[in-house]
Amino acid sequence: MASHNRIPMIAGNWKMHLVSKEAADLAAAIKKGLDPALKHEVLLAPTFTNLHAVHAALAGSRVILSSQDVAWEEKGAFTGAVSPSQVKDAGCTHAIIGHSERRKIFLETDAVVNLKVKAAIKNGIVPVLCIGETLEERESGRTFKVLETQLNGAFAGITAAEASKAVIAYEPVWAIGTGKTATPAQAQEAHLFVRGQMEKIYGKAWAEAVRVLYGGSVKAENVDELMAQPDIDGALVGGESLKADKFLRVIHYQAAPVK
Ligand code: 13P
Repeated sequence: MASHNRIPMIAGNWKMHLVSKEAADLAAAIKKGLDPALKHEVLLAPTFTNLHAVHAALAGSRVILSSQDVAWEEKGAFTGAVSPSQVKDAGCTHAIIGHSERRKIFLETDAVVNLKVKAAIKNGIVPVLCIGETLEERESGRTFKVLETQLNGAFAGITAAEASKAVIAYEPVWAIGTGKTATPAQAQEAHLFVRGQMEKIYGKAWAEAVRVLYGGSVKAENVDELMAQPDIDGALVGGESLKADKFLRVIHYQAAPVK
């Protein structure tokens, strides 16, 4: 039996979907459908322009608001970027950082991810750090090496105390938006590796406490078996989080009695 006490987190990443009214309606439906007895954390990450509307829709609930990215600079001539204090002002307490779409499409390196994690922490924003290997990296046996490099890069120069609230999301790139979920065993293996690597960086207590979410085609139909794995502490959900009924089922997954 595990001795840790990790509070599960179910997070919805709405990516570049919805306009503000749709986002507010979806947030309101999710808020309404939450079991008041639910103990774990629920997080929504709308597009920047929808943050205010979703924040208002979530008023009075314990749903966490997150941005999908954050700039590392505080202010200035950075056209198109949104600073940590601006996302805080919009109601965010968390920021997703290093999503594979940012890495792949917007060419973010581990060094950039590191700057963003540092900026978030400095501003009291909880980073939800995304890592994960591509299909080619998995097939050539480099999965663990890639995860190790991404973790070492993201947390470089950050102390265990500074990083104490960070959340990590393992999202194998080949499972994102493809309908190809990692098997529970594949995900568990990677999560265990992530925890081991974090133990090397910050020590056992830190690694035992950190939440490691799984992301990549999480659905109402597969969340239970994923969440039954001992090192899977939550889910980062894309497509399925855009449908209130489906996402509510993911949020209210059937937990194994003891994790
Ligand atoms: P899907 O759930 O659509 O595969 O997306 C996962 C994801 O990228 C969440 O950040």
